[in-house]
Amino acid sequence: MAFQKPTGTQDLLPGMVEKWQYVEQKARDLCRRFNYREIRTPLFEQTDLFVRGVGDTTDIVEKEMYTFNDKGDRSMTLRPEGTAGVVRAYVENKLYGEPDVSKLYYIGPMFRYERPQAGRYRQFHQFGVEAFGAVDPAIDAEVISLGYQFCRELGMQGVKVEINSVGTPETRTAYREQLLAYLTPMKDSLCKDCNSRMERNPMRVLDCKVDQDKFHDAPSILGSLDEECSTLFEKVKQHLDVMEVDYVVNPRLVRGLDYYTHTAFEFKAEGIGAIDTIGGGGRYNGLVSGIGGPDQPGIGVGIGLERIVLILEKQQIELNAQKPLDVYFVALGEQADMEITKQVFKLRQLGFSVERDYLGRKMKAQMKSSDRLKARYTAILGDDELERGEIALKSMETGEQLTVKLDEIHLNLV
Ligand code: HAM
Repeated sequence: MAFQKPTGTQDLLPGMVEKWQYVEQKARDLCRRFNYREIRTPLFEQTDLFVRGVGDTTDIVEKEMYTFNDKGDRSMTLRPEGTAGVVRAYVENKLYGEPDVSKLYYIGPMFRYERPQAGRYRQFHQFGVEAFGAVDPAIDAEVISLGYQFCRELGMQGVKVEINSVGTPETRTAYREQLLAYLTPMKDSLCKDCNSRMERNPMRVLDCKVDQDKFHDAPSILGSLDEECSTLFEKVKQHLDVMEVDYVVNPRLVRGLDYYTHTAFEFKAEGIGAIDTIGGGGRYNGLVSGIGGPDQPGIGVGIGLERIVLILEKQQIELNAQKPLDVYFVALGEQADMEITKQVFKLRQLGFSVERDYLGRKMKAQMKSSDRLKARYTAILGDDELERGEIALKSMETGEQLTVKLDEIHLNLV
């Protein structure tokens, strides 16, 4: 039986990969402009990092982790998200000793054992940024504006930014009481997940896919914020306003991870069936100390690249990602063939993208390859031309054919 890829994973074939490279390049360029520097952390970490970091009442930790014991009998987990590993690296490498805010970004695969559907995979990719060391709401707004600008520069239409404040553990205690008082009378009509969440983490009930619509008149978390939380939230909004970031406040926005404090936000766009969230993030002031580091604040965002690519395709946005070949070489005869080996290598060294025939085909078949590969020029070398030190160079765009000196091909590839 032939092998198949694991459920919930994808092969990104040539043709599609160029779109990914384009999106990734856009992310890198954006980070350069926003002054975020790349960090690469392991694809697996100690399981406990995620249990303590992401939170043991989250779906991720309860149901979705790829956890295994290594040969040394240590429990390891494939990273289900990027933040916990970056926080661990920030602490372990003492980046908090730097005088400036540490602004980091990453692009890479994450793993969650979820039920696959359009836009949801078991191996997926995130572009994420994390900024450590500042409580200034200007950085909350910067992170939000970065995600917003990423979508805009890719040409995505109809992106919505939803923001909320989830307060601090202290203000949440008060909110939790109110929410429980509201939820308890409807307990019997709620699903099994809601019932177990009510006991462990009632705010997550509001995020239930099954019962979400029943909570229209639930108390708002914004009503439980203390003055400091409210002021911070107002400031974040002001910073967003001056950048003209288009957002709405959604007081029901609860994120699926436990580490958030104050600002929480999501990016939404239509186009992939039931799923509309393309990215999300927020502030996590207790996370660095929660995994054993110093008391340093942080904020970040994670954006799902599969979802971005799917939406761009759905919105028929041309990424113009595939660069055409500069020259395709056609060789006629054995001596010409050897000369072409030399010329191809030379042009590649000079920075041109070049291809040639390797199948010993007739001229017509080689010309067809040049067409298929959308080469800008076809260079045709027969033994006669070779003797004269020349080659025929045909512009595939205009059909015009010139005879040029063999050592001057590069000067004619305009
Ligand atoms: P998250 O909301 O769990 O947050 O994931 C962020 C994004 O990753 C989602 O909005 C979605 O686009 C994508 N994503 C998540 N799961 C899947 C999946 N199974 N298949 C495809 N795409 C998926 C985080 O991961 C946080 N670490 C974000 C963050 C960074 N918060 C602060 N800093």
